[in-house]
Amino acid sequence: MLELLRDRLEEPTSRSLADAVSAAIRDEALREGDVLPPIRTVAEFLKLSPTTVSAAWALLARAGAIHTDGRRGTKIARSGGAAPSRYRRALPSRTSFELDLATGIPDPALLPDLGPALRSLQVAATPSSYLDDPVLAGLAEVLRADWPYPAERITVVDGAMDALDLLAENLLRFGDRVVVEHPCFPPLLDLLDAVGVRSVGVSLDDEGMIPGELQAAVRSGVRAVFLQPRAQNPTGASLTERRAAELCEVLRGSDTLIIEDDSAGAIATSAPISLGASIPERTLHVRSFSKSHGPDLRLAAIGGPAALLDPVIERRLLGQGWTSRLLQSLLLELLTQPGPVRQVRAARAEYARRRTAVVKALLARGVEVSASDGINLWLPVADEAAALVRLASRGIGAAAGGPFASKPDGDPHLRVTVGLVASNHDELAAELAEASRVGAWSGPR
Ligand SMILES: Cc1ncc(COP(=O)(O)O)c(C=O)c1O
Repeated sequence: MLELLRDRLEEPTSRSLADAVSAAIRDEALREGDVLPPIRTVAEFLKLSPTTVSAAWALLARAGAIHTDGRRGTKIARSGGAAPSRYRRALPSRTSFELDLATGIPDPALLPDLGPALRSLQVAATPSSYLDDPVLAGLAEVLRADWPYPAERITVVDGAMDALDLLAENLLRFGDRVVVEHPCFPPLLDLLDAVGVRSVGVSLDDEGMIPGELQAAVRSGVRAVFLQPRAQNPTGASLTERRAAELCEVLRGSDTLIIEDDSAGAIATSAPISLGASIPERTLHVRSFSKSHGPDLRLAAIGGPAALLDPVIERRLLGQGWTSRLLQSLLLELLTQPGPVRQVRAARAEYARRRTAVVKALLARGVEVSASDGINLWLPVADEAAALVRLASRGIGAAAGGPFASKPDGDPHLRVTVGLVASNHDELAAELAEASRVGAWSGPR
């Protein structure tokens, strides 16, 4: 294998090494499932630095030509590239359920009305320039006023997934290991796979990641920890001040980056919280406006130290450039006009009312769920497939828990977006409780 890479290598660069692997795949000298040697071995044999090989592997992973397969190593992928498998499994795009609670999306009826904000937009006569600051000064100021700590730099991007993609692409390297929550938002796991980064799952309880497990993972060497500080998707858990302090204690002695995804944003009832208050020099905090103001706005903000965020902003200027200032102006209106501010506040209270009603009704039926914030609840079930079939027979869709697992030992669960349910909570709880108990069919006795 090493010889065939050497024969195709034209220059001692990562680009050329990636080209050499691609050429070997085209020639069928390398085939699906072939395992690439460790980075160090390739580097020594080809007289390249490990960083060059790692950058080549990152380019190939990005193109879907290779993928990491846990301890089994880095393999040649199926041609056509790897599809985001967990995302598709967890979130089917269209279903015919009468009540589809698989989606994880906000209730359109609870989003603020865009009309008045659009009408009051003050759009400059000349279009914004390529040389203007990527973030509107007025918006940056409003974001700062509500940020959980004084971040050195704040920028605006096209949604939380764009933020996570930019951060993963710019701050992580192929082969890095990172901590993720268990259970975790499936697209993040797919994203990490796509950039060739290995995820190490750390379990959660009602207050956030379990410090002892995080400590063991950090000791084993991880480049970053990804966490959702509020209304964690799928469990609904929010970090407490006490737990945040414990996690900071674990992370303080390390050089691990902290990447926080506050995707619930203003619809969370818990106060904004960030480990950045204690470890600002290594924390990147993302806030999405999808749940609070609408997923199609595609808007999120990232706050963090200039040393980490400026290279990301610079690199983005070579692609997307900046997030449309027209959309930024709209967000500024939505965050400052009394009408939309009131609507978002009302949505937050309404989601809490709906969630609490289902949680209480479940408890009355002997099913305990810990959904303390956000739009989802994480329902423990005896068997995921059986529970899904049972709910489907009643016209209710839910998301299987499997794709959310970042560790092999996940107990069966369903994620149910109860935030979409305005009434009849007792009836829904009765169906969920029934579904939670049905076992798999085990054949004739
Ligand atoms: C945890 C988490 N991160 C990111 C996202 C995606 O957010 P955005 O629409 O801002 O890209 C979601 C959406 O459900 C989410 O739940």
